[in-house]
Formats: sequence, C-alpha cells, structure tokens
Amino acid sequence: MIQTPSFSLPSPLQKLSTQLTQQHGINLYVKRDDLIHRDISGNKWRKISGYIPYIEQHQIKHVISFGGAFSNHIHALAHVCQQLDVQLHAYIRGEASSKNNATLSHCPKSHTHFEFLDRQTYKRRHDADFLAQIKAQFPNSLIIPEGGFGQCGLVGFKQLIEEVNKQIKCDYFFTPLGSGTTAAGLLENISPQQKVIATAAVKNGIYLIDEVKALLTDKKKMNAFELLTDYHFGGFAKVSPELLNFTLQIGQQNQLILDPIYTSKALFALFELIAANHFAAGSNIVFLHTGGLQGWQGMLERKIINQTYLDNLYNH
Ligand SMILES: Cc1ncc(COP(=O)(O)O)c(C=O)c1O
Repeated sequence: MIQTPSFSLPSPLQKLSTQLTQQHGINLYVKRDDLIHRDISGNKWRKISGYIPYIEQHQIKHVISFGGAFSNHIHALAHVCQQLDVQLHAYIRGEASSKNNATLSHCPKSHTHFEFLDRQTYKRRHDADFLAQIKAQFPNSLIIPEGGFGQCGLVGFKQLIEEVNKQIKCDYFFTPLGSGTTAAGLLENISPQQKVIATAAVKNGIYLIDEVKALLTDKKKMNAFELLTDYHFGGFAKVSPELLNFTLQIGQQNQLILDPIYTSKALFALFELIAANHFAAGSNIVFLHTGGLQGWQGMLERKIINQTYLDNLYNH
C-alpha cells in the first residue's frame, strides 16, 4: 500500500513573472510537481501511479522495467516498489560499475535488483521474444516499459488536469518530452479549448509524434498538440554554457530549481516562444515541472558541472 500522506498533493502552482512575461502580457505558472515527493516526484508519480491499481489487484510480486544509468524513471519506480513491497528488476543500459552512481545507489537496495545490458542488447527492450524470456523468469510480474510508456501511464494526468483547472483557467500546458507519455496523458485529459506544447529532450525527436499518437484513444486530440524538436541542446543529457546560465538565473531569481535534462531546456524553449509572440497577450500557460532534480548529482559525477555551480544553484 502506498503511504499517500507522505505525498504533497495537489502540488502548488507558482506564478513566474519575469520582464519577458510582463512585456508580452503572458500569465505563466509553474505546476510544482517536483514538490510532490522527495523520491517519487514530478511526472514520475503521475505516470507510475496509473500502474499501481494493476499491481495491487493482480498481486504482482515483481516489476520489470528499463532505463539508462541515470534514469529518473528507475529511481522513482524503485521507491514506489519499496512502498508497495514488490521487487523491481531494473534492466539498465551500461556497465555494472554504474550501480554505485548517484542515481542507482539511491534506489532502495532491499527492493531493487539491477541487470546491466550492453547497448546492443538494450536495443531489444521492446522485442516481444526478449520480453517473454525475461518475464518467464519472474512469475506474477508486470513489465513497465522504459519511461513508464503505456496506456496505464496516462491515467494519473487526469488528476493533474483537475488540480490545474481548479487552480486557474489554463490555455496551454507546456511540458518536456522523453517517451511521450506525459504529453499523451495531458492530451488525453485536456478540455477542447486547451492545448499541449512539448519539447523533445532527444535529437531528431520528430518520431515522438507517432509515439504520442499511439497512446491516445482519440487521435483527433493530436490537433491540440505541438512538438518542438530544436531544443535538445546537442542531444539527450547534453548541456551548453548558455543553458546552464539560464538555469542558474531562473533558480536564483525565482526560487525555482529546474533539472538539467528536461525542464531547463523546456523553459528555455518556452521563453523563446513567448519572445517570438507565439502566444496572444492574456494567455495562461502552465509549465509542468516534471521533477528529475536527482539528475544534478549525476551531472556532477560526470564532471559536466562542478560543485560551485550546484552550490550557486541551491544556496542563493
Ligand atoms: C524530469 C523529466 N521530465 C520529463 C520526462 C519526459 O517524460 P515522458 O517520458 O513522459 O515524455 C522525464 C522522463 O520520465 C523526466 O524524468
């Protein structure tokens, strides 16, 4: 059973008022899903919560999933599995030595088993025969695809939209996009006058349109969707000095810490869109803080940033 009292729901909406938003007459709000829970935050909670009824009803004992060595999804899922008292079998792309990294070493040891796969084998993570082989090892198990991708992953966004609609009248939801589940979950639950804009965290992300579409029950909802593919900053988990400066400035001026892989790039993109008059004056935009802050430790470990940068970000 999940201990929901430890979850801060509904998550607050923070108004982000900058010179840019004021100049363009935009009402920008950040849905602070990063504050939902220390370890199970952001869209991870929204996505994984949709799988919990199935796990409980079918008395699942083993959850199987996939992710990179610094995966936010695996990190959050491991903590959910601990709360549900089920075992997580996490298939990780990379070397066994990464089990000591900042992400995987913070997964509860009592409930997490790692299996490390080389890049070629990891590519088979969607193949039916490969998945059948894995599942055969664990009776009473559930496979949750990488990133929580799947129809169950959409369910939790109904609550998010209900929360927002009680908080303000929202015209646009703005979110980063990895697997496409979050964008699809928003699209599935928005009302006809609302729109969803997403920024791909990967290079050449145009294929993600099909991933989002595949998850939707009503494909016409794609008319309310816009995907931006030019804000990956060199590729997944790559950063530039410009992005790091932007993230630091947002953190210091607004008490808002973004993650380095998804939300910092998405907010950068949103600011460019506002500056380019993409939105009519008076528009209400809700930017989804999808969490992922644990990713900073991984950036530090890989020396992509240094401790001084993190100190400046967190202790201003
Ligand atoms: C912090 C963060 N933001 C955004 C995403 C992308 O979400 P999705 O995979 O649902 O597109 C992820 C991946 O789960 C994430 O960890």
